Amino acid sequence: MSEPSRLTESSSEGAVSVPHPTDAAAVSQAVDRALAEIAAAADLAALKDVKIAHTGEKSPLALSNRMIGQLDKSEKAAAGKVLGPARGRISKALAERTVVLEQERDAAILVEEAVDVTALPVRRRVGARHPLTVLQDQVCDIFVGMGWEIAEGPEVESEWFNFDALNFPPDHPAREMQDTFFVEPADSHVVLRTHTSPVQVRAMLERELPLYVLCPGRVYRTDELDATHTPVFHQFEGIAVDKSLTMADLRGTLEHFARQMFGEEAKIRLRTNYFPFTEPSAELDVWHPGAKGGPRWIEWGGCGMINPNVLRAAGIDPAEYQGFAFGMGIERTLMFRNEVPDMRDMIEGDIRFSQHFGMEI
Ligand code: DAH
Repeated sequence: MSEPSRLTESSSEGAVSVPHPTDAAAVSQAVDRALAEIAAAADLAALKDVKIAHTGEKSPLALSNRMIGQLDKSEKAAAGKVLGPARGRISKALAERTVVLEQERDAAILVEEAVDVTALPVRRRVGARHPLTVLQDQVCDIFVGMGWEIAEGPEVESEWFNFDALNFPPDHPAREMQDTFFVEPADSHVVLRTHTSPVQVRAMLERELPLYVLCPGRVYRTDELDATHTPVFHQFEGIAVDKSLTMADLRGTLEHFARQMFGEEAKIRLRTNYFPFTEPSAELDVWHPGAKGGPRWIEWGGCGMINPNVLRAAGIDPAEYQGFAFGMGIERTLMFRNEVPDMRDMIEGDIRFSQHFGMEI
């Protein structure tokens, strides 16, 4: 019978003391060490290392177990009785600790990954085009649908296009109808355009005849900002030049336009008026079927047959060609179409105003 002995085997982690398989005290010490380390393992990864150290091929008890083969027959049974339960205790402790650590891990994941459904979302506001832009595009679409073209002109305009070519003589009182921003020096004869009508003349000079053109754009007047005035606003100007155009063509065009804008029940009416660039001239009213407080007539803009002097200024022979023209304000159109009581809301840039019109982009 061989003496119980301690074998020492070296591993990468240093010397491991291997108890003799029949040395119950040494085996028990090895078990105690293992149980202490199992209890101390703080998480599953640490427990895995402990498991390898105490049950792996190179663990003290595994090596001790391997020694049984070399023992006398009489010692083998005793060794089995020592080692078997010892290894069993370690396995059981490992299994129990695994369950505990798994529960801890799952609980931690639940906390970490919890979604607070009551938390306030990060609000990201969707941008939108300004209602004036949207309205301007709608107007353009209606005229493009009739085969018209869209044209633009400069906002800083020569006085000649803004007034002279439109038949406002230098001393004509009609020039005072519009309060003009003049660009310095005073004799530069440059203004911020007071209306989109100068684009009429530019279109006639630049384009082939016949022409059907809509000109939307920004215009300027020296008005104080209040609920119904702003020094910068928008208009659209329509101009048609063709052979044998009459007031009936103007009427039909505007009636179609009014119906597209305000619905099938909309209609228009023309009232005599004076503009230097049209003859005859008319004030245009629209019957607005959807008006708040019931359908009613609303002043919408001006129109008329292009004055022969204007055609001549653009090099067109009035005996051969006639034309009609009309002009309306976009802010004003938006005001009565959408019941906007204060024009200042349109220029303040507050997103809450635009949101009323939907988030069309
Ligand atoms: N230019 C005019 C204004 O700003 C509007 C206008 C009236 C335009 C009659 C026209 C027209 O083309 O024929 O008040």
